[in-house]
Amino acid sequence: MIYSKITSVGGYLPSNILTNKDLERSLDTSDEWIVTMTGIKERHIIDPNETSSDMAYKATLDAIKTSKKDLKEIDLIIVATTTPDKIFPSTACALQNKLGIGECPAFDIQAVCSGFIYALSIADKFINTGSKKNVLVVGVDAMSKITDYSDRSNAILWGDGAGAVIVSASDKPGIISTHIHSDGKYESLLHVPRTKNLSGKDTIEMQGNQVFKIAVNTLDRIVDETLKANNLKKSDIDWLVPHQANIRILEATAKKLDMSMDRVIVTIDKHGNTSAASIPLALNDGIKSGKIKPGETILMEAFGGGFTWGSALIKY
Ligand code: COA
Repeated sequence: MIYSKITSVGGYLPSNILTNKDLERSLDTSDEWIVTMTGIKERHIIDPNETSSDMAYKATLDAIKTSKKDLKEIDLIIVATTTPDKIFPSTACALQNKLGIGECPAFDIQAVCSGFIYALSIADKFINTGSKKNVLVVGVDAMSKITDYSDRSNAILWGDGAGAVIVSASDKPGIISTHIHSDGKYESLLHVPRTKNLSGKDTIEMQGNQVFKIAVNTLDRIVDETLKANNLKKSDIDWLVPHQANIRILEATAKKLDMSMDRVIVTIDKHGNTSAASIPLALNDGIKSGKIKPGETILMEAFGGGFTWGSALIKY
């Protein structure tokens, strides 16, 4: 059996920070409301002339810095994104060009906030079958480019950033299991319809209350599914590295796992919801801060538009 393992992580956040106080100036909202309802204090916002592939490039260089692998050893690039640079070609191809590592295959995955879990799952399968040895998996989103900043019901949530991991073939398990699902019947609860609004861009529409309830229930089920598939007890999980959508959703999943919040990697206060980037950025934070140690068992889970959802159980 060829296993796959995350051997290196990296992240990138744009330097421009948008605080709740900044939002108070243009929206009928308050720092207190946003913090209480979401846990978010600030988020990073991309420059107008910066693109998702620019952020992906910087996150990849950060991952390579601490990797034993050379860029030339990458034999597959998968980018999870909802905010591609262009309709085509893929952001993965744009990233490949910036990295100067043709001619390995490169493609994008669109599963919104679950995109990183989907991409990791695909990377795992390519390695398990012996077809690839070193896969670059990037989760990147420039959510500010599809946010309507006059809509207080969701403008307060989103942030921009990129997280990258290198997944390599290993003789010991790293990625233990991945689980992915979708149900397209919920499409209209969280989506970006193609109807250009006054600001000239297609923007996010969300029925937040309904999304919240379905997210909590669905994440509950994915936790059960992952533990059952691996014959594990809740106490076998050392760390929860969740998609950062809302602190109250994170707390509900931690409660489901009988886990205290100090075993949960939380970045939502500083990053907001960065969609496909949120899990790799949180993983990067957990590892680089020294909280997550080699050999520990980590549960990653995500929920997003589609609806899509999924989990990955890994040993770091
Ligand atoms: N500031 C102040 N008040 C706001 C507000 C804001 N930014 N946004 C909404 N409100 C108001 C509403 O107008 C409403 O007022 P009313 O009671 O006078 O009618 C009240 O707050 C409650 O609104 P509601 O939309 O029911 O709030 P909520 O409890 O559902 O919280 C979210 C809103 C967005 C924080 C919450 O729904 C959420 O996080 N949902 C999940 C979103 C998510 O995770 N999406 C991504 C999935 S990947």
